[in-house]
Amino acid sequence: MRTQVAIVGAGPAGLLLSHLLDRAGVESVVVEARSREYVEARIRAGILEQSTVDLLREVGLGERLDREGDVHRGIYLQYPGERVHLDFVDLVGRSVTVYGQTEVTKDLGRARAAAGQEIVYEAADTAIHDAGTERPYLTFTGPDGRAERLDADVVVGCDGSFGPSRAAVPDPATWERTYPYSWLGILADAAPSTDELIYAWHPDGFALHSMRSATVSRLYLQVPNGTDVADWSDDRVWTALAERLGLDGWTLTPGPVTEKSVLPMRSFVQQPMRHGRLFLAGDAAHIVPPTGAKGLNLAVADVALLAPALAALVRNEDSALADAYSDTALRRVWRCTHFSWWMTTMLHTSADPFDTQLQLSQLRWVATSTAGATGLAENYAGLPIGF
Ligand code: DHB
Repeated sequence: MRTQVAIVGAGPAGLLLSHLLDRAGVESVVVEARSREYVEARIRAGILEQSTVDLLREVGLGERLDREGDVHRGIYLQYPGERVHLDFVDLVGRSVTVYGQTEVTKDLGRARAAAGQEIVYEAADTAIHDAGTERPYLTFTGPDGRAERLDADVVVGCDGSFGPSRAAVPDPATWERTYPYSWLGILADAAPSTDELIYAWHPDGFALHSMRSATVSRLYLQVPNGTDVADWSDDRVWTALAERLGLDGWTLTPGPVTEKSVLPMRSFVQQPMRHGRLFLAGDAAHIVPPTGAKGLNLAVADVALLAPALAALVRNEDSALADAYSDTALRRVWRCTHFSWWMTTMLHTSADPFDTQLQLSQLRWVATSTAGATGLAENYAGLPIGF
């Protein structure tokens, strides 16, 4: 097989890249280790920045998003005795949209299928070869067990932190931060008890009330690393959520829990995001902890930069944008790495009493000062794609 751009990974980054390349007249083949059903069932965060929504609309992917997505003006920030609404529209003129990453992936999957995009699902042992030359190629075992080779002008790794692409960049610089806590996430058939998300600092640990629709809530609890979901009965989860999100005059409505899992938290950045004819996008190059929901938005920003760069490279042999890709993308990556680290460390309790006082002081400042709130709002609602 031969194509212009070989894309490893059919998550939102890989599928959106193939969509954008197609619109620019560039052919691609996507190779994915998992099945389409698996990829489309993966539960991830559900907050789209304004520029992510704008881009999806602009490229014809906004129909269901506009119908089902829930536009939020801001968030609530909570600390003992206070729940303060930060209005991003007032503060920075931008909103966010609640629409699950799973839904974005399904919309992309349908759009790519309708366009006749070649996607090889259930490809095993994908390997990247000769990335440092003008003739890179992939090898993999197809779903029928046959050995395949895919030659391309360019290979793009959209295969997350466990895929083969990251390791195909020789001698990268890497930065990593692990956190001494995890999230227990639940999905519940319960009408959200709030109109917009609540981020709550509590002495027992952080809690977040998010949602997926008028009838489905998504909630998270800070738990110790190594937590076993089996130790968290539905009753225990709802009791902890009611305690940590509690505020006089407000009640949390529980409901049947349909999914429960523990999420690790990590920051990771690898630089450069390119080696010769191999480019990395999304989680393949960087991981953010979930607080602030930046992961998908960062992946979208990467491929929004990469698509025009690759079109210029493969169609006109013009490498200027491709040469600038890694440095340009990393500016935004580091901004979001800082923001998600900041949100995480401000909201999760630690055993250190000095940290506790700093957190509470910072929360009060962000919640009550326009200057403080504006910084959070600008980062949360998202900086423009070219930032
Ligand atoms: C969600 C996840 C987040 O990490 C966050 O900051 C906000 C919302 C979510 O899953 O809805």
